[in-house]
Amino acid sequence: MSRKRVAILISGGGSNMLSLVRDMADPEHPGAPCLVLSNNPDAGGLARARALGVPVATVDHRPHRGDRPAFEAKLTQVLADAGAEVICLAGFMRILTPGFINAWSGRMINIHPSILPLFPGLHTHARALEAGMTVHGCSVHEVTADLDAGPILGQAVVPILDGDTPERLAERVLGMEHRLYPAALRRFLTGERSRLALLG
Ligand code: GAR
Repeated sequence: MSRKRVAILISGGGSNMLSLVRDMADPEHPGAPCLVLSNNPDAGGLARARALGVPVATVDHRPHRGDRPAFEAKLTQVLADAGAEVICLAGFMRILTPGFINAWSGRMINIHPSILPLFPGLHTHARALEAGMTVHGCSVHEVTADLDAGPILGQAVVPILDGDTPERLAERVLGMEHRLYPAALRRFLTGERSRLALLG
């Protein structure tokens, strides 16, 4: 079995990235991590990936402010150098252009901290509380040119508890993200497209 070469794009601490890399330590896994790539040179996840023996790279977006295609041309080069076949966005906080997204069509997935199509975009935990929801969660979806709106591969749900704050809720959702994303990636790589549902 040839394992797909998986690049993981991060901007921060990279806890989802770690859950994917740890799962891919299984030699039976259909994927293997070939690169952890960050737009943020200070991303804590870079050192965590390096400690696990995964190659890391940084493409700082700041020198390309106002020129997303130039930033993405660099991403494309670094991904090609690493031989990446599939991209997992894992807390990658840059908007990608349709040009980049279409080049990776069917080969790029993302984790988002809400039950899509509810609460695309930012501040999802505060918005779920504000809306009076009794449940919240996370989604893994294919990335398409519409932000946070590609085909859903799997979702996990947690209850919202009395007295929850955005921070407490985020922590509970993140725990489910770490279960959902590895399971969804395995299924994605094997071509399984039935949707996965996890209840916390
Ligand atoms: C996660 O909660 C992820 O779902 C979210 O950022 C966090 C990254 O945490 N992603 C987005 O909001 C994407 N729009 P991590 O760096 O510890 O994985």
